[in-house]
Amino acid sequence: MTDTAIDTGPSHTAVTGPPVTTRLHLLPQTNRLRSLHTVIRDRDASRADFVQTSAQIFRLLLDTALDLLPVTTRSVRTPVGQTYHGLRPAAPVCGVSIARAGESMEAELRAMLPQTRIGKILIQRDRTTKLPHLHYAALPPDIATSQVLLLDPMLATGGTALAAIALLREYGVFEEDIVFVTLLSSPEGISAVHDRHPRVRIVTSAVEERLNGDAYMVPGIGDFGDRYFGTD
Ligand code: URA
Repeated sequence: MTDTAIDTGPSHTAVTGPPVTTRLHLLPQTNRLRSLHTVIRDRDASRADFVQTSAQIFRLLLDTALDLLPVTTRSVRTPVGQTYHGLRPAAPVCGVSIARAGESMEAELRAMLPQTRIGKILIQRDRTTKLPHLHYAALPPDIATSQVLLLDPMLATGGTALAAIALLREYGVFEEDIVFVTLLSSPEGISAVHDRHPRVRIVTSAVEERLNGDAYMVPGIGDFGDRYFGTD
């Protein structure tokens, strides 16, 4: 078995797939994906359907996000004595979920990459100042040299995403090593992230029309956390 790094840039040892400069990755709007969205956007969906169908979309999102990460070559011998010239991740991959809604994405990531370490950030908006406030962070020790999948199913105003990215930057994570994975995003949230952090990539399954006066996305899904955890 051999491992070879392909040098393709300053902070990566190897890259395949779209270049880092492709910043927004919208999943192909297939009939299958739209059918899944139809289930979770239905206000009358049962909680079981909501949870189970969200998980299927998370899989698609995480597959796309993982495909953006750098890889190195790895050759293996097959059971019939031949060589398969394959690939493996070039750097450790970790997840960081933004509580509470982001925790809903952890199980799928763990199922896909059982060894992956998953950190957690709790950011809440201050009731008076309306500014995001960091309450808690537990991050893997090697996060600065990891590829980070930042998990939050909702990218609405972008305030929480910006606070989370700022924290990761404080821990030494390069912008280009962060992939923000989100189920629904708003044009406002995408602009907020990319205006401040142009090299952070966003993977999403839908870009909504806009935010309403209560900062909910429309046509939207309602409060994701409440619907997922049954607290509505
Ligand atoms: N958070 C949600 O759960 N839903 C939205 O539409 C916006 C933020």
